[in-house]
Amino acid sequence: MTDYRPPITVYRITLTQPAPRPILAAMHIDILTLFPEMFPGYLNESILKRAQAAGLLQINLHNLREYATGKHRITDEPPYGGGGGMVLKPEPIFTAVESLISNFQSPNLPIILLTPQGRPFTQTVAQELAAHPRLLLLCGRYEGVDERVQQHLVTDEISIGDFVLTGGELAAMVLVDAVARLLPGVLGAEDAAEDDSHATGLLEGPHYTRPETFRNWSVPEVLRSGHAANIARWRRQQALRRTWQRRPDMLLTATLSEEDRWFLGKLAAEPGNR
Ligand code: ADE
Repeated sequence: MTDYRPPITVYRITLTQPAPRPILAAMHIDILTLFPEMFPGYLNESILKRAQAAGLLQINLHNLREYATGKHRITDEPPYGGGGGMVLKPEPIFTAVESLISNFQSPNLPIILLTPQGRPFTQTVAQELAAHPRLLLLCGRYEGVDERVQQHLVTDEISIGDFVLTGGELAAMVLVDAVARLLPGVLGAEDAAEDDSHATGLLEGPHYTRPETFRNWSVPEVLRSGHAANIARWRRQQALRRTWQRRPDMLLTATLSEEDRWFLGKLAAEPGNR
């Protein structure tokens, strides 16, 4: 049997509760970071924890410092040309990624740098990534990463929004979370991802649960009617209303039926909306 494990320390996301080793994970994500300890608290709870225990998801954390050489294992240096901050050096990153690739033999492996300069992360990008059997995430830090990493190593650069974090670790966790919940079997049938805000091209409408009346605020009658077709129509209209109010830009690309368009016309004609 071939041993596919890399020859260096792998921080499996099983630090607090060992899960049974999956024989074949549906998706395998390697995360290269200077701060592997940041991850288990989030990734080892709730749905992601269950997904790993069920063998649907395997996450391996790799400490970039372990791939640096020299007595001090330096991973960053000041930028050429001056200026503030530190830049991640190319050698440890190339060594780490190349060693992971050779250990895992993954053609077409997305090697993704998390950076505010990347393409925007959206539900569509999450769906695209969820179709891959394996991902390699590289968390940037400090002022940035040596440009040769972007030019000659990574295959994709992703940003989770137009703001600057102290590093790519949180962004990697966001990406893993959004991708993992799309993997077959990760969500139960009852909370499947198809109706999510953004998955349908619309925002989701409101949800209610017990009690029926709370502080004099009652659950809409239609939801208690048991009439499936009326409930579906009401939900669709609430989704349209909410999207129209909060994210009208999304209506430009959403797939809309004749009835949807009729409802939006009615909305626009409502007093106060004209
Ligand atoms: N690293 C720092 N800021 C980031 C962002 N907005 N998205 C992804 N990675 C980042």
